[in-house]
Amino acid sequence: MYKTLLTDLADNILTVMINRPDKLNALNKDVMSELGEVVEEIYTNKDIRSAIITGAGQRAFVAGADISEFLGLTSEQGRELSAKGSEIFFRIASSPKPIAAAVNGFALGGGCELAMACHFRLCVSTAKFGQPEAGLGLIPGYGGTQRLTQLVGRGRAIEIMLTGRMVEATEAHMMGLVNYIVMEPDELLTKTRELLSVINEKAPLAIARVIECANIAAGDGLAYSSGNSTHSTHRHGGASSSGGRTTNKADASWEPDPFGGEARPDDNSSSLPSGLPGARADGSGMKNGFTREQQAFGECFATMDMQEGANAFLAKRKPHFTGH
Ligand code: COA
Repeated sequence: MYKTLLTDLADNILTVMINRPDKLNALNKDVMSELGEVVEEIYTNKDIRSAIITGAGQRAFVAGADISEFLGLTSEQGRELSAKGSEIFFRIASSPKPIAAAVNGFALGGGCELAMACHFRLCVSTAKFGQPEAGLGLIPGYGGTQRLTQLVGRGRAIEIMLTGRMVEATEAHMMGLVNYIVMEPDELLTKTRELLSVINEKAPLAIARVIECANIAAGDGLAYSSGNSTHSTHRHGGASSSGGRTTNKADASWEPDPFGGEARPDDNSSSLPSGLPGARADGSGMKNGFTREQQAFGECFATMDMQEGANAFLAKRKPHFTGH
């Protein structure tokens, strides 16, 4: 049960609605903490195959971090706030289960960053995106400088962040910030669920690997975990805390597969052919997406789902994937 989020699980899709409409769903400490918790629920609940993040009311997806919590923070507290928020958004971005943003209005500051941390975005025609932080004497702090640049390119991203201007839905669509615009607000969740229903029919272990490899290509995922000590608690076992909840990670270096799938084979990149880019003598990094793709492709052959997919195709029937 959440205080600031409304959740609904139907057809294996969890809808998460940020519920502070009177404050345009601004991300205060409580919302951030509960977002951290709900992301862990998405990772661990086997009934959830994919998720939607949206905002309550007609006006805003999220109008940013809660500015009223900023005054009086020291530089160190500001850095910690950014690290905590980035950690939660990173967990969204690297979720093995797809998470879509259904942007129902303003997506500003932390709201735009939250939408960008999701795997893809749909919006209503009246949605507005922006990173207005520079006008508050700030910069985006939850991954926005990185993800906006990844999504729309350096020139556009810098201009949007420096001017703080609002980007209308059509422009956001044109520049690749959103995948689809719906004309009627009522259609937003329906269309998002339709897309996720299509994805939910596919093989979960393959989906997890597509997300992971695409994240590497985008400079997300492993690139972050290798260089950030805050995040490393999630990757290197032991107790880790997210959103106020402590979880134990048995896996030494990788998140377990969703739906109880097989553990990944040894991720020691020193076992790669030495000519492959990304192979490292100390086995410390699998940063190169091409290399990881080859390994992940091979992992798929060890899954029952791959056998099922090929057999179903040859038998001209619909596959039934179990995530094993
Ligand atoms: N943090 C805290 N409160 C916020 C907020 C935020 N990021 N964004 C909106 N709110 C609050 C307002 O303070 C107001 O509360 P009140 O009714 O108690 O005064 C309420 O939400 C409604 O917002 P309001 O500004 O009155 O609506 P508007 O239609 O005039 O303007 C916006 C809408 C989105 C243009 C405006 O709210 C805004 O600029 N918000 C801040 C956006 C921002 O800079 N985000 C980045 C933060 S780092």
